[in-house]
Amino acid sequence: MSTIRKPVRTAVFPVAGRGTRFLPATKASPKEMLPIVDKPLIQYAVEEALAAGATQLVFITGSAKRAIEDHFDSAPELEAALQGKEELLDTLRSIVPANATCIYIRQPAPLGLGHAVLCARPVVGDEPFFIHLADDLIDAKVPCLKQMAAVYAEHGGSVLGVQTVERKDTDKYGIVATEPMSERLSRITSMVEKPKPADAPSTLAVVGRYLLSPRVFDHLATIGRGAGGEIQLTDGIAALLKEEPVYAYAFEGKRYDCGSKLGYLEATVEYGLKHPQLGEPFIQMLSKLLADRLRRG
Ligand code: G1P
Repeated sequence: MSTIRKPVRTAVFPVAGRGTRFLPATKASPKEMLPIVDKPLIQYAVEEALAAGATQLVFITGSAKRAIEDHFDSAPELEAALQGKEELLDTLRSIVPANATCIYIRQPAPLGLGHAVLCARPVVGDEPFFIHLADDLIDAKVPCLKQMAAVYAEHGGSVLGVQTVERKDTDKYGIVATEPMSERLSRITSMVEKPKPADAPSTLAVVGRYLLSPRVFDHLATIGRGAGGEIQLTDGIAALLKEEPVYAYAFEGKRYDCGSKLGYLEATVEYGLKHPQLGEPFIQMLSKLLADRLRRG
């Protein structure tokens, strides 16, 4: 039996973080503009949200993030300079489809992810919405948010994208305790932000994909500061799940932690290998590099 649910039209992209792990690259340029092959991380994020049906794209920005607005704006001077180069012009013009709207909200102070999400409340209103953290790049046949929208269409409530991590790494994530429902789906019974490995209720970690009921805003507005002195999204969701179902969905696909240098390099190599034009020459180049390196010992 299917129920009519409110469509998920809005995607929120919290992009106010400083990106200190990638200094000096992120001194004057947002970490979300770091490219994987030829596209910035934030464009992969937007493409995933569009594929899941979002048409309202809300960026929560901070200082030194102007390049993101420029990236999703039209560029008449650049287009004029590229006259006649239809392929490049198409690449530029297809970044945001005509039916999508970009909205930018400045987070007035770095008070945490929960606070950043709360800044989107006036735009999101009383509808379910996506949150996408661009650092977490997910390569999947069906885009991750689209998979989550299908779960929501069937079950309602809120849905978080999760993945099992090594116990030593629980202190990098929101960790959930769950009651299993099916192979990929479970219902969350509790949630804690960045627990020490010994204290973690499980090794099921929330990665940067959320489909949330708007009720979460009421909790974010009242929970106060949590781990690290910040208003934590995890704490808002932990309060939400006491009154509404929140599901953990183990998505199909591979996640790259592009907030770490090694994860970023891994994504770069794998996306390079899969690139339609670069894939073949790239694998030859890599094979040669590795063979030379192994020969030298
Ligand atoms: C944030 C969230 C955390 C989540 C993680 C996913 O942490 O607070 O709950 O598991 O994103 O990447 P951050 O990586 O911003 O420290």
